[in-house]
Amino acid sequence: MADVVQASKVPQTKYLKDYRKPDFTIDTVDLIFDLRDEVTHVTSRLVVRRQGKAMAPLVLDGSHLTLVSIALDGENLTEDRYRVDEDHLTISDVPDEFELTIQNDIDPANNTALEGLYISKGMYCTQCEAEGFRRITYFLDRPDVMATYRVRIEADQKRYPVLLSNGNEIERGKLGGGRHFAVWEDPFPKPSYLFALVAGDLVHLEDHYRTVSGKDVTLRLFVAPQDLDKCRHAMDSLKRAMKWDEEVYGLEYDLNVFNIVAVSHFNMGAMENKSLNIFNTKCVLANPETATDSDFAAVESVVAHEYFHNWTGNRVTCRDWFQLSLKEGLTVFRDQEFSADMGSRAVKRIEDVRMLRQHQFAEDAGPMAHPVRPDNYMEINNFYTVTVYEKGAEVIRMYHTLLGPENYRKGIDLYFERHDGEAVTCDDFLAAMQDASGRDLGQFSLWYSQAGTPEVTVTSRYDAEAKTFELTLSQFIPDTPGQTGKKPMHIPVAVGLVGPDGTDLPLRLEGENAPVAGTGTRVLELKEASQTFRFVDVPERPVPSVLRGFSAPVRLKTDLSEEEYLFLLAHDNDPFNRWEAAQTVASNQILKLAEDLREKRSLTLERKIVNAFGKVLDNDALDNSFKAEIMTLPSEGMLSQLRTPVDVDGLHVAREFMRGQLAHALEDELMTLYRRGEDHGPYEFSPEAVGRRRLKNTALGYLMELGEDEVAKMAVKQFMNADNMTDEIAALSMLTNSDCAAREGALQHFYDKWKHEPLVLDKWFAVQAACRRRDTLDVVRKLTKHPDFDLKTPNRVRALVSAFCAQNPVNFHDRSGRGYEFLADILEQLDPINPQISAGLVRPLTRWKVYDAERQDLMRQTLERILSFKDLSPDVYEIVSKSLR
Ligand code: TRP
Ligand code: ZN
Repeated sequence: MADVVQASKVPQTKYLKDYRKPDFTIDTVDLIFDLRDEVTHVTSRLVVRRQGKAMAPLVLDGSHLTLVSIALDGENLTEDRYRVDEDHLTISDVPDEFELTIQNDIDPANNTALEGLYISKGMYCTQCEAEGFRRITYFLDRPDVMATYRVRIEADQKRYPVLLSNGNEIERGKLGGGRHFAVWEDPFPKPSYLFALVAGDLVHLEDHYRTVSGKDVTLRLFVAPQDLDKCRHAMDSLKRAMKWDEEVYGLEYDLNVFNIVAVSHFNMGAMENKSLNIFNTKCVLANPETATDSDFAAVESVVAHEYFHNWTGNRVTCRDWFQLSLKEGLTVFRDQEFSADMGSRAVKRIEDVRMLRQHQFAEDAGPMAHPVRPDNYMEINNFYTVTVYEKGAEVIRMYHTLLGPENYRKGIDLYFERHDGEAVTCDDFLAAMQDASGRDLGQFSLWYSQAGTPEVTVTSRYDAEAKTFELTLSQFIPDTPGQTGKKPMHIPVAVGLVGPDGTDLPLRLEGENAPVAGTGTRVLELKEASQTFRFVDVPERPVPSVLRGFSAPVRLKTDLSEEEYLFLLAHDNDPFNRWEAAQTVASNQILKLAEDLREKRSLTLERKIVNAFGKVLDNDALDNSFKAEIMTLPSEGMLSQLRTPVDVDGLHVAREFMRGQLAHALEDELMTLYRRGEDHGPYEFSPEAVGRRRLKNTALGYLMELGEDEVAKMAVKQFMNADNMTDEIAALSMLTNSDCAAREGALQHFYDKWKHEPLVLDKWFAVQAACRRRDTLDVVRKLTKHPDFDLKTPNRVRALVSAFCAQNPVNFHDRSGRGYEFLADILEQLDPINPQISAGLVRPLTRWKVYDAERQDLMRQTLERILSFKDLSPDVYEIVSKSLR
């Protein structure tokens, strides 16, 4: 019972089709936490009510718990009245309504999995999503059981002056022996995964927000004392998010307090516990000296994301974990739009699509492919995926695109009108959208059930005599594990026709009387396997700009020539497709260069391509961030998806070659851009300032390709003089990637300067792990022995191990197989400590099928080795075993 070491057993698969409403529900929960060094005593008083089968026993979830006592309606239950095993507490003879009081002990100090109640740097905190509450006490630990909670926390007053839980603090006082207590009450019924508790020695930043209806909300951000100087940005972001949600969604905050706590040991980014969000320090702490512009942007979006969950997730929650995207896809779409409104919409879209394609498209093409609403899983923690989150957000975006903003908002309003306070499904969301708009979304629902990235092929035909332009769109959905022979989907394809002068032509489809007014973009709805759309009154042959704004998460194949892409790069008024044109041209170039390498032909970069990039840099109408996006060539991870077997080394060399050629050809322009970006006032996180730094650092990165001492000196100077982390780490990363003499000194300098700031030290580990030099694996292995490396700190593990295995393909996939071996060595130690993080790290190995025969063998052998580890966690077992079949 007590911390039973789980005998290795094959985890069970759970199926969506088996969903049943629970036989019992719990209306109120009364918890007492007696926090002690050796042990935490938990007392739980539950009001339980039967809502199903008359004779059904009560089966509560519970794991890693030590049961002390059970009383039913005040009467102690003897051992013959219940059964306890590793995962459950079963009581057979129970009335239809009763009060159950359970006492159990837990051991937060030894909880390295970081699920349930654990200790992070001397403070108690919780993580209950998805199934962590069962590690705190016995419960119906499923999201369709919603209760109101009252929580009493008792702890040593000196060491844990701050005691927090959900809702409002209703009582606080002193106890004997230097202890104190606080009582919190949350008036909103909630599922157990939203429960939270924090106890620690924390300081806080306080602010206030007045809601539209005039309610005053006290906002507090709790952190360790040394981090108080990194709170302002998150607090400001929170206030902006609260305002945005009122303005754009009509959603107001519903309590008088909103607390955020920063913890250094955390498996994910952050958690939306009702009125007590808990954040990974990485996603909330930021000041100019320690955080980069990307960190600032990430903090803003994660703070908003968790805040937005208060409505999309908490007030209306998920019926079961198969519906995870109901809250996550919707909330990601909301945070994406929020960030777009706060900064540059075009650049935000490009970043989101870059991320979707690199990670989600890869997942969708591999052994772990699953629908946005999975229909089975072994370990739910493995399904907090880019598919559920990012593809899920694309699904919500498509409702928005198909219905238009007004009908989308009507759908949202109806969703809350119908389901506030309920635990519902993705079908309920779709029904609200359908009923509010009057649109038939039957076929659209396939986006929830069919996995795999649809391929859309476009061909076009211009009839000069009839002045018609035809676009034929065809779709094909690839097979994925367990799913074959899929149906055509309902795909919004936004198109424009760019005329010879570079402006959009008016769009009039055959059968329409006049062009539809407004912009030159129209959304075509592809529903059949193949459909032809005929535009009339087209005076000259246009260049079609298809899938503008990336209107659907599909792979697009066109019959456009390189000249036409270069034309779109120069003229398309849709910024996304303009960027897309550059990416397409660059991808094709790199693939061609890699082929030239294989065929032992000499490499050259075509002049017209250099010129096209040069024109972008010269164009004063384009903003700096956008220019930097265009200059950022597709990553090796992206390029790896285009051809099998992946030419690991060829793609790397070809991409570097292209960067080098651009640097040589555009040296003067790049140097001018760098100089222009250099002098500036104090740090500011504004789109303009971010863009300036970004383009400046992109330019310096290219210039470093020249291998000139002069440039290395510029990088060293920037590194030494930087007053902000963006410029400092950009320069360090360039120096780390180079062979210049200043390299070692710079790394040492950075370490000495920042060794007391864990989040900055993570960057020190990460730049070394992501380094393209061929000695990187040896460096990384050595860094695992560094006194600051720690397997119990997820951020540190990700900084070193993920940066190497997931962001450094040429080194991780070294043909010797040593990279794979390294990952397995890490997992052997890490899996018993933290299964959730281990399962995240193992993913790069699972895509073995796209590599050459030798690498396939090495990767498979490594997966087999991992599978043979003693007491392998269900988390890692699920991913490894599925990837081997
Ligand atoms: N719901 C969290 C979010 O906002 C995700 C999350 C945070 C999570 N911590 C977790 C999920 C731990 C599983 C386990 O996206
Ligand atoms: Zn979320």
